[in-house]
Amino acid sequence: MGRSDRSESRSSTAGRDAANAFSTSQTMTMTVVPPTRGRSDHRAPVIAVRRVDAADAPALATFYAALPDADRRRRFLGTSRGPGLHSCELLCSNDHVHNEGFVAILGTTDERDGRVVGHLCLTPDDEGNAWLAPDADGQALEIGIAIAADWQRRGIGRRLFAAALDWAAEHGIGSLCATCFADNAAVLRLLSSAPESVIVPTCDPAVVQVEIRVPGGPDERPMGARGLP
Ligand SMILES: CC(C)(COP(=O)(O)OP(=O)(O)OC[C@H]1O[C@@H](n2cnc3c(N)ncnc32)[C@H](O)[C@@H]1OP(=O)(O)O)[C@@H](O)C(=O)NCCC(=O)NCCS
Repeated sequence: MGRSDRSESRSSTAGRDAANAFSTSQTMTMTVVPPTRGRSDHRAPVIAVRRVDAADAPALATFYAALPDADRRRRFLGTSRGPGLHSCELLCSNDHVHNEGFVAILGTTDERDGRVVGHLCLTPDDEGNAWLAPDADGQALEIGIAIAADWQRRGIGRRLFAAALDWAAEHGIGSLCATCFADNAAVLRLLSSAPESVIVPTCDPAVVQVEIRVPGGPDERPMGARGLP
């Protein structure tokens, strides 16, 4: 999907997921197709999606360190090495009101190995990284998401996104935003699956902003009209 200032309003699988979703204070598990096909053992891989907690910091740092350079560039929009342990400790110490995070943890039906294979964080855009300025009440939260390379395209990103939408609705947050490369087809497809989303250009032709209205949230303002230049 290319750079565009068009609005998109689509029927939503994310919305359907949200309708059936777990409470975001709970853990939801999903069975996924393993990256290595033809496993001969009986253990079905299970992904648990839940809120991040402080004990996840080392596993989260390992997850980000293992991301391929191309995915780390897509996630952090540049040459960042990604968050180290200290930054991951901060990412795992959310106040559950102004910021939140979810992890996808790999396990099996009979054993958990605790490997993080996906992470989504919701953070206030108070550092000016996004074009969308936060509301006076700090309600504009930015999504950052990454899935381990060998676990992509198995619906894990969609589950994490549904958890984020649920959490935002539960907390009365009207819209979320994300900043991504204009040629990042994967995340644009994922985020545009929300019932209402709009893709807007930024001053950098290579970067776009996605604004997502939270299903069930309070935001009644026109899409794309929140603090854009
Ligand atoms: C973007 C990302 C999080 C998607 O996670 P995922 O678990 O692979 O996504 P899912 O399997 O849940 O798929 C979600 C949708 O995206 C589509 N999709 C996934 N990867 C895609 C790709 N490479 N190209 C095109 N579409 C893609 C899927 O087909 C699906 O859409 P559909 O249900 O309409 O078919 C993952 O690709 C990633 O981690 N990328 C690197 C980091 C990044 O770009 N972060 C975004 C910046 S914040």
